[in-house]
Amino acid sequence: MINLDEETKQNAKQLDHRYDGRLKVTGAAKYAAEFPVKDVVHGYIVQSTIPSGTVASIDDAAARHASGVLAVMTPFSAPKVTPNNNVNVLQDNRVLYNGQPIAVVVARSLPEAIHAATLLRVNYNPTPARLDFDALISESRPPKRNGVAWEPGTSPLPPGANRRGDVDAAFAKAAVTVDQIYTTPIQNHNPMEPHATIASWENGKLSVYDSTQGITGERQNLAHAFGLQPNDVHVECPFVGGGFGCKGSVWSHVLLAAMAAKVVQRPVKIAITREQMFGPVGSRPNTRQHIKLGADATGKLLATQHDVTLYASMFADFVEGSANQTNMLYASETLSTNHRLVEMNLGMGTFQRAPGEATGTLAFEVALDELAEKLNMDPIQLRLANYAEEDPGKKLPWSSKHLRECYADAAERFNWARRKPTPGQVREGNKLIGFGMATATYGANRSNSTAIVRILPSGRVYVGCGTQDLGTGTYTIMAQAAAMALGVDPSLVDVELGDSTLPRSGGSGGSQTAASVCPAVYQAALDVKQKLINLACNDSASPLHLANTESVSTRDGVLFTKSFPTKSEPFAALLSRSGTPIEATATAEPAKDRSTFSSHSWGAVFAEVAVDADTRTVQVRRVVGTYDIGTLMNRKTGINQLQGGIAWGIGFALHEEAHIDPTHGLTVNRNIAEYHVPVNADVGEIDVACLNIPDYRFSPLGARGIGEIGITGAAAAVANAVYNATGKRVRDFPITIDKLMA
Ligand code: MOS
Repeated sequence: MINLDEETKQNAKQLDHRYDGRLKVTGAAKYAAEFPVKDVVHGYIVQSTIPSGTVASIDDAAARHASGVLAVMTPFSAPKVTPNNNVNVLQDNRVLYNGQPIAVVVARSLPEAIHAATLLRVNYNPTPARLDFDALISESRPPKRNGVAWEPGTSPLPPGANRRGDVDAAFAKAAVTVDQIYTTPIQNHNPMEPHATIASWENGKLSVYDSTQGITGERQNLAHAFGLQPNDVHVECPFVGGGFGCKGSVWSHVLLAAMAAKVVQRPVKIAITREQMFGPVGSRPNTRQHIKLGADATGKLLATQHDVTLYASMFADFVEGSANQTNMLYASETLSTNHRLVEMNLGMGTFQRAPGEATGTLAFEVALDELAEKLNMDPIQLRLANYAEEDPGKKLPWSSKHLRECYADAAERFNWARRKPTPGQVREGNKLIGFGMATATYGANRSNSTAIVRILPSGRVYVGCGTQDLGTGTYTIMAQAAAMALGVDPSLVDVELGDSTLPRSGGSGGSQTAASVCPAVYQAALDVKQKLINLACNDSASPLHLANTESVSTRDGVLFTKSFPTKSEPFAALLSRSGTPIEATATAEPAKDRSTFSSHSWGAVFAEVAVDADTRTVQVRRVVGTYDIGTLMNRKTGINQLQGGIAWGIGFALHEEAHIDPTHGLTVNRNIAEYHVPVNADVGEIDVACLNIPDYRFSPLGARGIGEIGITGAAAAVANAVYNATGKRVRDFPITIDKLMA
């Protein structure tokens, strides 16, 4: 563990602008589909129109002879590859969901490819489809572990299952119980930038421009699929227009672009259309969450039971672990959690911002609101009565937890004291006003990361790392991490990322990038600073010549001795004598004693809603949140992520849902006009504060990561506020007008 010394703290400066902001607003930042690759041609994915069966035949004669067409790939003609099992890339003729890729047309231009796709004649052998979730619940099964089915009665429990104590005995003792079912719908990712890939081959080596949350993983995945060495695959991704989990997997279009490029021997671009975002690129599964709580008269949880059922595709499992945080968030004496999957003819489930916690905190924090009401207890008091002083699931101490301060700070700023516990009491004209609150939490993750830092004779600094910036601020905080270790202004740091030839880093998922990448940058910068000091002390032309290296410090790009600060030399003056840059590479790993503590981020989130008494439209007037996320590395990019997460939580509570046609298994509302996400008018005021208490036990810079916690709890706070306003408890999300009228 490196603890920041006083010198580094003094040198810590935040960039007050987003490093990549100017490039983005001027349009200079290039996204995957925008790279001007010579001779690029266009691939268009043709999707199945049935949910289940086989493709019997595809007559592609007319398409192949259409204007501009270079190739048609079908299950009967596509090159053989070795994909992961989460994608369908024309390797066989099975159809497992409506919208599955069944062909790719490659043409000179995109309009020609789209036109030729209409000329394909596809014959199917349909089979009965599994599309009725409720009817199939009786056939649910535990998730597989590494593809292996769980055998009843065997240990360990299936993935996502946890037990502590005798739940049934504890329920029997409970003074008050809640027993309810909460349901959340399928949701689809819609970042501003849809998925896109440009793939090209040269001398047997594959290069891709792709919008991805993990260039290193993608390189590995493509190498495996095409039987190449990882070094024969080059992935470039300098900018991502939003990831949120959907770009954490290598989906079919990436492989199909590379396959098509092989077939036509030219670079091929496949850009997923907005409509195709509701198809072969994953979605957040629906959840059915049965929650049973038993408490004593003081509100102490004696028993917690959280049983989750969700859909899984017919080809690979994905578990939205809605009950995972239930195992650690409150100190319930006994507990039982379970996840079960219902196989359906739908596309893959996948990671979507706080996968598990987003859906899980919604249901659980609403259940707690119901319990608080039964106990006639303030919702904050109920949570404090069950405050977990250590991780109750892992029985480990927290590396850092200041959730009490979050409740207190947010309650104060929100003016929670004004809340009327009995619903439907506050009216302003025709509006019913309600207050609600919930706890937010998300785990802290780190993975190995390597970075290079170089000081140039000009005095500027270069930082390189094979990570990626999803739009979250990775460029910005990498510049800051190098600058604080070196003692230079962060505006003098140039950052390079998103290229698989750079030193290796992990995927940007699980809110892990800040805590993984910045420590590596920081350590490399400390190492190069030491080299710089050694150089100065050994350079007879330097004013620092023969100074004790221990006595030399840096600030604002100048080396100086601590005892005689006027004995100094700028970095640029020192390095320009040799004209050679100096550099260092360092790797940072999770703390050696990581298994001895548990690390999570925390928050308290409060919402005020106004519900129209007649039309039942819900307006979220304001949300106030206070978060304990460790060090807030950069105010602008950090607060922005929390605000974005909260906006998403509002949509989760009130707007977002994919409607699946029960006969054909197609998403009916596959556009952003009918798939509702909150717009500015829906969001109101979002007031976010961070405690900014570093967690040095978890990571050297004290940051725990911030990308996902914002969505957690936010939807429940809104839902609880709607109940407080109306007295109507809606447990089937989103809370749409019709459900409030019924
Ligand atoms: Mo996040 S859903 O782990 O990209």
